[in-house]
Amino acid sequence: MALQLGDTAPDFTAETTAGTLGFHDYLGAGWGVLFSHPADFTPVCTTELGAVAKLSDEFSKRNVKVAAVSVDPIDSHNGWISDINETQNTTVDYPIIADPDRTVAGLYGMIHPNADNTMTVRSVFIIAPDKTVKLMITYPASTGRNFDEILRVIDSLQLTAKHSLATPANWQPGDDVIISPAVSNEDAAKRFPGYTTVKPYLRVTKQPAE
Ligand code: BEZ
Repeated sequence: MALQLGDTAPDFTAETTAGTLGFHDYLGAGWGVLFSHPADFTPVCTTELGAVAKLSDEFSKRNVKVAAVSVDPIDSHNGWISDINETQNTTVDYPIIADPDRTVAGLYGMIHPNADNTMTVRSVFIIAPDKTVKLMITYPASTGRNFDEILRVIDSLQLTAKHSLATPANWQPGDDVIISPAVSNEDAAKRFPGYTTVKPYLRVTKQPAE
């Protein structure tokens, strides 16, 4: 069955540009982002992998380990990294997984045969410290992803993992947040003093400091 939110992210061992890695070991006790790209030495992918490298400090701040994957072999990945670094003015400091036998692509459903029978689509998975899958998105080959959105979702997931809160449409860190419907008004008054009731089912509060 296809991987779904809440499932355990499949573990695997693979050859990568940082050596042979066990995926769960690599993630350790923190958060993870696994993202696939269709092919090495292609224009959109080059900009995407560069964009992720430029966000390295942002991922580290959030205790997130990143890994990229495609069905290209390791020699191809190693050759391509210097092009990414050169053209995108950055340094790729995360592993790119080589998946020529499509093991990882199969485990994560990254090949969509009706879109392309051979290449991985642009999938992104956010994985929580307990190794459950928290987000899955899939983009077409022709559209580069917005990795600021991935950071935004990580911020929301990390906030809502700590507090009984949810984040509204287009939320950005620091904006007001929504009190979970599961929290009673009495409990909400204790936990989020001064909260606002817009509708009985829509209660908003300041984002907690921690
Ligand atoms: C690209 O990264 O530019 C790309 C890769 C595969 C198909 C189309 C575009």
